[in-house]
Amino acid sequence: MKIAVYSTKPFEREFLGAANAGAGHELRFLLPPLSPETAPLAEGCAGVCAFVNDRLDAPTLEALAPLGVKLLALRSAGFNHVNLDAAHALGMTVLRVPAYSPYAVAEHAVGLMLTLNRKFHRAFNRVREQNFALDGLMGFDMHRKTAGIVGTGKIGELTGKILAGFGCRVLGFDPVRSPACEALGVQYVGMDELLADSDIISLHCPLNPATRHLINESALARTKRGVMIVNTSRGGVIDTRAAIRYLKNGHIGSLGLDVYEEEGDLFFNDLSETIIQDDVFVRLMTFPNVLITAHQGFFTREAVGNIAQTTIGNITDFERGKVNPANQVTSERHVAR
Ligand code: NAI
Repeated sequence: MKIAVYSTKPFEREFLGAANAGAGHELRFLLPPLSPETAPLAEGCAGVCAFVNDRLDAPTLEALAPLGVKLLALRSAGFNHVNLDAAHALGMTVLRVPAYSPYAVAEHAVGLMLTLNRKFHRAFNRVREQNFALDGLMGFDMHRKTAGIVGTGKIGELTGKILAGFGCRVLGFDPVRSPACEALGVQYVGMDELLADSDIISLHCPLNPATRHLINESALARTKRGVMIVNTSRGGVIDTRAAIRYLKNGHIGSLGLDVYEEEGDLFFNDLSETIIQDDVFVRLMTFPNVLITAHQGFFTREAVGNIAQTTIGNITDFERGKVNPANQVTSERHVAR
C-alpha cells in the first residue's frame, strides 16, 4: 500500500524501513508536517502516517479525501490531534499504537522528578565550571512524600509503581480504577483530595474535553505550596498561563514538562538560529525551577521500534480488511477516554 509518512525524522526511517522489510509497503517519507498546505504531497497514496504534531483537523482531512486517502495511521498513542468526526464522515479509518513502551514515558516522568528535585542539570554545569559549592542544590527525600497520579492507565500505573518503590505514598485519580494499581497500594481519591495532599503531581491522562486545562487556576489554588508538577501526557492538560502565575508567586515549587500546549510550532525542530515568537513558552524557560524536554518521553529504542512495528502492522491489517479493534480509534472511544 502507498503511504505518505509525514514529519519523518531520520531515526524513524531506519525503524520504519526495518519493520516494512517483510511487508513491502511503498513508504513516501516526507519531512514537512501534515497540514492543508502539505496534504497534496499524499497524491496517489491510500493512507497517511502521522505523528503527534501533524494536523489532522477537518480542513486537512478534507484536503486528503479527494486524493483517495482512506487510512490515518498514527505513530502515537494519543489521538487528540485528530478530528474524529471529520475522519468518520469522510470514511477514513484511524489506527494508532495504543501501547509501545509505557516504561519509556514513566521512566522519563520520574527522571524529570529526580532532576527537578536534586537539580542534576545545575550540578552538571557547576561541576564542569569547577564550582563545587552546594548552595541552591538542596532537594527533599522522596521517601514518605505523597505522589498523586492523575490517570492510572498503563503509564500512570508504572509511574506509581516506581514511586511506590521509592517509598512514596501514592494517590490516584481516574474515573476507571485499575485493579493493578490497587494491588500496588495506590489509594484512589477524588481530584480535590489529590490536589490538596500531593507533594508531587504527575499527569498521565489523555487530552480530551474533560481534561483540557484540568490543571487550571482553581486546581492550582488547591495544591500545596511548593508542589512539584510533572506533565508527560499532553500540553493542553495544563493551563500554561495559570501555571506561570503560580510559578511567579512561588506557589509551584517546580514544574517538569515534556509536553506543551503550543508545542506544534516548536518541538521536534532545531530552532537554535531563530527568534521564538511564543512569549508564553519563552517566559516558562526563564524559571530556574522549570525543566522542559521536547516531547521525548517516548524516545527509547524499544518504544520507537515498537511504534514502527505496530504502525506497519496496522497498515497491513487495513490493506487486508481486518483491522485490530484495539488499535482503532472511534468517536465513542474519543468521548469515553
Ligand atoms: P491509557 O489509556 O493506558 O491511560 C489513560 C488513563 O487516563 C486511563 O486509565 C483513563 O481512564 C484515564 N483518564 C481518562 N480521563 C481522565 C480524567 N478526566 N481524569 C483522570 N484520568 C483520566 O494511556 P497511557 O498509555 O497510560 O498514556 C497516557 C497519556 O500519555 C496518553 O494519552 C498520551 O497523551 C501520553 N503519552 C505521552 C507520551 C510522551 O512521549 N510524552 C508518549 C505516550 C503517551
